[in-house]
Amino acid sequence: MLVLASRLLLLLLPLAAHSSAAAPHTQPRALSSTRQLHAESHWETLPSLPLGPRQENSVAALGTDVYILAGITAAAPNATAFPSLQLVQAYSTESRTWRRVADVPTPLNHAHLAAVAGKLYVLGSLTGDGPFLPTGVSYKYDAGADAWTRLPKDGHMPEGSERGAGAVGSGGTANVSVFDTQTGTWLPAEGWPALPDGGRDHAGGAVVGDTMAGMPTPRGGLMAAAVDGKVYTFGGENDEALGAGPDGVYADVEVYDTETDCWEKLPDMAVPRHGTGAAVVAGRIFIPGGANMTGAGATSVFDAFSP
Ligand SMILES: *[C@@H]1O[C@H](CO)[C@@H](O)[C@H](O)[C@H]1NC(C)=O
Ligand SMILES: *[C@@H]1O[C@H](CO)[C@@H](O)[C@H](O)[C@H]1NC(C)=O
Ligand SMILES: *[C@@H]1O[C@H](CO)[C@@H](O)[C@H](O)[C@H]1NC(C)=O
Repeated sequence: MLVLASRLLLLLLPLAAHSSAAAPHTQPRALSSTRQLHAESHWETLPSLPLGPRQENSVAALGTDVYILAGITAAAPNATAFPSLQLVQAYSTESRTWRRVADVPTPLNHAHLAAVAGKLYVLGSLTGDGPFLPTGVSYKYDAGADAWTRLPKDGHMPEGSERGAGAVGSGGTANVSVFDTQTGTWLPAEGWPALPDGGRDHAGGAVVGDTMAGMPTPRGGLMAAAVDGKVYTFGGENDEALGAGPDGVYADVEVYDTETDCWEKLPDMAVPRHGTGAAVVAGRIFIPGGANMTGAGATSVFDAFSP
């Protein structure tokens, strides 16, 4: 999920389902494999997640802190239940330490998390132990008070549009739901056209204009973040393991330049995974947790990519 600074938060995607879905299959307009141009790009290993592995969590940054919210943890072998978590942790990129902050009020996973004007917003999610069910209940977090507030009913996702595992952005374009953080309400659905290629879940994205060249390696459950007008995409999963690594997980890092409308391939992830999020602090992209095999496979890995 990805967040830009504005008061309008857009949730793209259909009603939630817990499955992988490929991104659209259009050809990229240009793709270059220019590893040599990115010699300065690198991965850094950071202190792993205290309190256990996590996936299907959400990630956002407030100031210089990176937050990891809810999700599910590693299950016993052959487990069929994956209880949702309330756990929220924050990593200070300054002191390089993790701390636990106030739990989100209800257990959830695949939440739409966004940071706007110094606050975190949870705008709809999935909940339960599996199968996961959508809920439109929404919350706001005040880091100064270390407190969550349940938004009034008008702030919950409108009936019929409740979902999780969407992509979050802000600005103004394209089954898109739009929440206004200033009025605390959702805008009427009319006037927000559905996604052109149909619904999908486990997407990652950013609002960058009207159109985008299709990504070179279609994948769901990926992480995405924007730095300097470029959208970086990391990893993802594929139920069929087609094109993915042996565990059904992609290692691919691909970046979309919003100015040139071109994709470029970057060096692979140091630890390929899916099912988490990415947040940017000072031009570095932080990726806590995530699963190292398709479906369930939560890890405590925490690393950062410097473009
Ligand atoms: C778990 O599943 C694997 C593969 O299906 C099987 O070999 C193993 O015996 C199972 N373990 C338990 C504890 O049921
Ligand atoms: C998406 O939009 C279509 C067409 O307007 C509508 O029928 C459907 O209920 C919407 N779904 C969600 C999740 O909002
Ligand atoms: C996946 O993560 C688990 C938990 O951290 C670890 O035990 C396992 O070795 C990892 N597998 C791979 C292929 O990295």
